Amino acid sequence: DEAGVSLISADGAYGPDFSYSILGNGLTSQAALHAEYGGVYPNLAKREHARSLVPMLELALGETYRGATPISEDEKSALARILEREPELLEHLTEFLKKFSKPDVDAIAVTHGPGLEPALWVGINFAKALSLLWQVPIVAVNHMEGHVVLPLMHDGKLSQFEFPLLSLLISGGHTELVLSESFGKYKILGETRDDAAGEAFDKVARMLGIPYPGGPKISALAAEARTRGVTSETPVHFTRPMLHDGYDFSFSGLKTAVRRVVEAHTPVSEEMKLVIAREFEDTVADVLISKTLRAAEEYGAEAIVVGGGVSANTFIRSELARKIVESGNDAQLLIPPPELATDNSIMIALAGYFHARDKDFIEPDALVARGNLRLED
Ligand code: KG4
Ligand code: ZN
Repeated sequence: DEAGVSLISADGAYGPDFSYSILGNGLTSQAALHAEYGGVYPNLAKREHARSLVPMLELALGETYRGATPISEDEKSALARILEREPELLEHLTEFLKKFSKPDVDAIAVTHGPGLEPALWVGINFAKALSLLWQVPIVAVNHMEGHVVLPLMHDGKLSQFEFPLLSLLISGGHTELVLSESFGKYKILGETRDDAAGEAFDKVARMLGIPYPGGPKISALAAEARTRGVTSETPVHFTRPMLHDGYDFSFSGLKTAVRRVVEAHTPVSEEMKLVIAREFEDTVADVLISKTLRAAEEYGAEAIVVGGGVSANTFIRSELARKIVESGNDAQLLIPPPELATDNSIMIALAGYFHARDKDFIEPDALVARGNLRLED
């Protein structure tokens, strides 16, 4: 439910000589629009992406490339074909070409999955259109790779760390533990069998009458419960799902357990909401952290990345940091700044840069939305 366009400049191979700067960034979220559906509504998302992309591109380009892009009749008809299913985007792009000259870019990186295919297609078709107009190649980027790569960056450079790298990826659509023995290599150690961590936060929020995406609000309630030491008459406790079995996750039973407590206490008082939010967040944090630490031990991880929207969660961040130290593990913890933990295009541009450097381009005709794309693909 985010549409973003950013322009980055980067230099150097993967390693200490790599550097980058963000020249422009446009990001818009549809979260408020989806609030009434309690989640992302595919057709609405598609329409909003088509509306947002050109304004976000204009933000990313800023004042540097004001002018106009001359366009031939052939290009015009090619554009119309590419954006056949996105008439509004075609209209916006046509106006854009009257206002902006061809920017000095070497490659376009675009997310091709995983995600909702109708929404992915809008970005893909936009990338194809720009590739044609600007005569630059396209790199197809896995959304989850963006969530891994971003936390590796710090202050225009790559952080110094050693492999193996263990990534805990926690977003609205995915929950995965991923091992990398070298840059760009991913082995999925475990993943959720049902709901994703962020999805669980959002669904619990909904049960408590909190609009989508409720993750941050649940976390705020849990924090309040902790600082004020709020308790309930009947204690609330949730079983930690699959705590000791393997590296897969399951959050759907937890969701049901929360529903039962909510139903037993309806109408749920404000105090009870605090208690439920706290116990829920404690449960999710316990499961995520204990599996991460176990995997870090088993695979001898030198560094641990936490990425995806839920990595913005203050409690999970601080508990993980605390428990790494407490367990005597000396893995280095790499977490994104909270404002870049949730979806953005900077992470896609950065991940895309390394593919572009390897000339890992895709022919526009071969570029398709891959809803179930996995990091191992
Ligand atoms: O990575 P992301 O921006 O989008 C996907 O790729 O899905 O993750 C969004 C998810 C949502 O479920 C949202 O509720 C959750 O991240 N989230 C949080 C917090 N901030 C965002 N969950 C818990 N605590 C937070 N502070
Ligand atoms: Zn994401």
